[in-house]
Amino acid sequence: MKKLTLTVILMMSLVALFALPAFAADAADAADDAHAFVGAKKCKTCHKAQFTSWSETGHATTWDRLSAEEQKDPKCTGCHMTGTTAKDVALTGVQCEACHGAGADYKSAKIMSKKKWKADPEGQKKLALAAGLIMPTEKDCVKCHTKEGNPNFKEFKFEESAKLVHPAPTK
Ligand code: HEC
Ligand code: HEC
Ligand code: HEC
Ligand code: HEC
Repeated sequence: MKKLTLTVILMMSLVALFALPAFAADAADAADDAHAFVGAKKCKTCHKAQFTSWSETGHATTWDRLSAEEQKDPKCTGCHMTGTTAKDVALTGVQCEACHGAGADYKSAKIMSKKKWKADPEGQKKLALAAGLIMPTEKDCVKCHTKEGNPNFKEFKFEESAKLVHPAPTK
């Protein structure tokens, strides 16, 4: 019995050892690796209202609140930037794709087409989701809005906060 307990504890510590660092470092990179990031300017072309109101939030400018050293520190960058594009351009701040998933594929005019979407909203949305679009829920926020590794943690209430990310009129 004692031996069994010891084995279980050992196995659990091993799991924790491998799982923890990966979780902390990759918070912002959790978007599906199969899709590439494109950056908020590409989304702006078609979603001006969301872009404008997002620009006024702390997400858009949070990179500027890190010092030059902190901007190189992997302990900080994970939650204060979005990722890098296929051309290796760093996307700083919490941009659209930090919440909606890397957009190279779903932003395609074949999928996010006004005409096609109007004709078949459910069908087009399905295609977008299959191409990596995320309609974020609480679990997508708490990758970053967590105590773990976040020296400025504030309590996070999803319902209220979600209204503040880009409070644009929907259409
Ligand atoms: C070529 C224009 C275009 C581009 C570029 C584009 N979108 Fe879209 N997107 C649309 C259209 C059109 C729709 C259909 C709904 C609508 O008319 O707003 C849509 C739908 C969406 C939806 C779902 C809305 C809903 O009603 O369910 C999200 C979320 C979204 N886009 C996010 C993004 C993000 C993030 C990017 C950048 C990575 C992006 N889009 C790039 C045109 C575009
Ligand atoms: C796990 C994600 C995460 C990591 C890692 C992280 N932060 Fe943050 N940071 C946040 C979030 C989320 C906020 C907003 C506060 C909140 O709601 O918790 C924030 C807010 C901030 C702010 C603004 C504080 C304010 O009160 O306006 C600064 C500055 C900051 N972080 C610096 C850092 C530095 C420096 C590091 C590295 C030592 C770091 N962060 C690591 C998630 C993170
Ligand atoms: C901090 C996370 C976050 C960021 C950053 C973000 N969004 Fe959203 N977005 C959301 C949430 C949450 C919803 C509502 C999802 C739902 O209704 O299920 C949403 C909804 C949308 C919709 C659907 C229509 C609407 O306005 O409700 C579009 C289009 C959209 N976002 C585009 C964008 C674009 C473009 C950007 C960047 C300029 C962006 N989002 C940045 C979280 C985010
Ligand atoms: C990639 C990490 C990341 C993700 C994902 C994320 N946030 Fe944040 N959030 C931050 C950081 C960092 C800040 C601090 C911004 C600053 O410097 O003021 C923040 C700040 C905020 C604020 C305060 C904004 C302001 O203008 O002061 C709200 C509200 C918020 N987040 C809501 C959300 C919601 C809702 C989601 C999920 C739909 C979400 N966040 C997803 C990192 C993230």
